[in-house]
Amino acid sequence: MTTKHPNVKKLLDWFQTNQRNLPWRKTKDIYHIWASEVMLQQTQVTTVIPYYKRFLERFPTVGRLARGSEQEVLKLWEGMGYYSRIRNFHRAARQVMTVYDGKIPDTPETFQKLPGVGPYIAAAVLSIALDIPLPAVDGNVMRVYTRFHGIADDIRKNTTRDRIFNELKGIIPTEPPGAAGDFTQAFMELGALICTPQKPRCDACPFHEQCIAFTTNTIDRYPFKSPAGKVPEYKVSIGIIIKEAKFYIQKRPSEGHLGGLWEFPGGKAAAGESPEQTLFRECKEELGCEVEILQPLPLVRHAYSHFKIQMSPFICQLKHGDIHPQENRPFRWITISELDIYPFPGANHKFFPRLKEYFTDFFARNKNPGCFTV
Ligand code: ADE
Repeated sequence: MTTKHPNVKKLLDWFQTNQRNLPWRKTKDIYHIWASEVMLQQTQVTTVIPYYKRFLERFPTVGRLARGSEQEVLKLWEGMGYYSRIRNFHRAARQVMTVYDGKIPDTPETFQKLPGVGPYIAAAVLSIALDIPLPAVDGNVMRVYTRFHGIADDIRKNTTRDRIFNELKGIIPTEPPGAAGDFTQAFMELGALICTPQKPRCDACPFHEQCIAFTTNTIDRYPFKSPAGKVPEYKVSIGIIIKEAKFYIQKRPSEGHLGGLWEFPGGKAAAGESPEQTLFRECKEELGCEVEILQPLPLVRHAYSHFKIQMSPFICQLKHGDIHPQENRPFRWITISELDIYPFPGANHKFFPRLKEYFTDFFARNKNPGCFTV
């Protein structure tokens, strides 16, 4: 297939004049494009731009990323969520250095063996950076394609994605050079700028005369996505345990949800427990200590990808004795001014301003805090 296909040519012409000026479009460096696609997989373009710049300033090559510490890479990612993306990207960079001698594998089969590289990332990166004609099928592309052809299949199903992939494989251009990557980005761009989820700008779409959804006035029917199951909501209590103007944080295990990030001790409420009871029980179970509450902070609601939480943070202190940290679990006693050095899950950032205020007041109250320094 070449750009002579009238619709492919129309799409690429539209892209030439309408594409946004985005930082990852100024490079053909496969590592930089890979970084951008990892970020863009679950995060919006406007949010990604500053992260992309900061990340590549700090880690301009795959080798530099491989040498970065887990904490450093997580800190640069903090706020974008979906942390398994960065843990996999980091692990993949290390594999590139150890298994592939520093050269990013450049075939779909080898590239997809790296952690976190699925069919979408592989197709997006290889088509954009190396012009390999593999269609990248993401939510944008499925929306554009199902509207254009009036496809009512459920986009949650792999069979729908496979169908669209196979059909696009038949039209993705192989020449002139650069056309495959432009095709990938043009499709995404049409979905982002024109064929948007809500209120698409069909009047500005170069394809509206051929589009089944537009011409039959059925845009709201496509794409069809079956309803998601209800996500569970957990009640969680956490303790910010203060001792001598410092507080206790611990590191989550590297594997699993929010792995490698730092947290405060605490956990999920058992049936019938009040937030305070949960706190006292968790502190006892997790750290073998008894705490008393100095100040509850306002409830925080936060949605992760597969569940929601209602988090009750409590500033507290030890009633007596000390904390007994869990074995093999890194922990620190930190000052409030050190808080920003450590990467924490998103929900925590919602109460950090209140926590900082608490400490500002604390030091105002204790004008001469003696050995307490921050
Ligand atoms: N979304 C996913 N990949 C993208 C890209 N390369 N440009 C803009 N938006 C995207």
